[in-house]
Amino acid sequence: MAKKPLNIGMVGYGFMGRTHSNAFSQVGHFFNVPFRPVLKATCARNADRAKAFAEQWGYESIETDWRKLVERKDIDVIDIASPNDTHFEIAIAAAKAGKMVMCEKPLGRSATESRQMVEAVEKAKVPNMVWYNYRRVPAVTLAKQLIDEGKLGKIFHYRAKFLQDWTISKDLPQGGQGLWRLDASVAGSGVTGDLLAHCIDTAMWLNGGITKVSGMTETFIKERHHNITGKTEPVRIDDASLFLARFANGSLASFEATRYARGHKALYTFEINGENASIFWDLHDLHRLQYFDHRDEGRTRGWRSVHITDGDHPYMDKWWVPGLQIGYEHTFIHQVADFLGAVGGGKPAAPTFREALATDLVTDAVLKSAKTGQWESAN
Ligand SMILES: NC(=O)c1ccc[n+]([C@@H]2O[C@H](COP(=O)([O-])OP(=O)(O)OC[C@H]3O[C@@H](n4cnc5c(N)ncnc54)[C@H](O)[C@@H]3O)[C@@H](O)[C@H]2O)c1
Repeated sequence: MAKKPLNIGMVGYGFMGRTHSNAFSQVGHFFNVPFRPVLKATCARNADRAKAFAEQWGYESIETDWRKLVERKDIDVIDIASPNDTHFEIAIAAAKAGKMVMCEKPLGRSATESRQMVEAVEKAKVPNMVWYNYRRVPAVTLAKQLIDEGKLGKIFHYRAKFLQDWTISKDLPQGGQGLWRLDASVAGSGVTGDLLAHCIDTAMWLNGGITKVSGMTETFIKERHHNITGKTEPVRIDDASLFLARFANGSLASFEATRYARGHKALYTFEINGENASIFWDLHDLHRLQYFDHRDEGRTRGWRSVHITDGDHPYMDKWWVPGLQIGYEHTFIHQVADFLGAVGGGKPAAPTFREALATDLVTDAVLKSAKTGQWESAN
């Protein structure tokens, strides 16, 4: 039987516009989902670029103003893959128009924006989801299963870091295409909302809520040329952000993100230490889960490097044959598969806007703590 089409309206054609378009195109080839995503329209401000993107990815039409896209009767889902300062207005307008809303992370530039976005989707009762895609790395999903099954026992520690090195040069400008992440008015914050948001979402998914935080941030380069104003302007984002945290389950945590770790491009790692077992995961080796179980027989006890490619690993029965691994882009395909499954089953699609608000409450608390020098409540 032909599947019901679900018409996608995509805002933004950059890095995430490509990962999402690929996911919508691929999902039906590998997963038995209840809808057939249709690339109906892509929206970007520049018509020529929008047309080129539409042609390359197979979108049927283009818009140059997201408001037009939101008004269109033939669009079911608005997918927001544009910079952080656009999320708030587009998501609220889309919810009011009765569209399903998928939004890139962080949900808002602050929890104040995010809270209103949650209200809008919940009032309109429209399916909503935020693209915290690392949950859908099969090794990370397996970590979640092992923790939920109690394999680790009581959890004592959670340790996460996300390291990059692309903003070290003082000659790098801020603002505009490709560099909006350095402009606080667009991004909201620096590495706290960008990189730590991922670490926090994964952490709370795996280990429950964070109650309080003590943070420290630094902006190493204080002024940069601004691509839009043409002037040298103060840099208002955090270049590095570190914080300590307490989880509701009593475990202690440390988090670190920076764009000044020379040699690291996107090193996202986390380690969880429980009473019986520990888990370690590394984005550069994303198809492996490191696992240590103290209950193993002593003489052969040690860290196992589990190759997450077998049919009994999460999502892997949908891909190739055991031993053959998948990569980064597949996490977005998994997220679309889960979204379509949830919508088809009338269930919330995790992480919902409300779950993503919880992350923004933590990032806000980290930034506040960095200013006050005090522990701050994170919920
Ligand atoms: N889930 C992840 O792992 C992940 C990774 C990267 C980025 N992101 C998030 O995705 C979003 C986009 O980031 P990116 O790296 O793709 O950025 P990008 O700069 O590569 O692309 C942004 C796109 O948005 C377009 N755009 C900007 N303003 C617009 C407007 N008013 N209307 C229509 N289009 C507009 C730009 O032209 C560009 O095509 C951000 O919120 C970012 O935080 C998430």
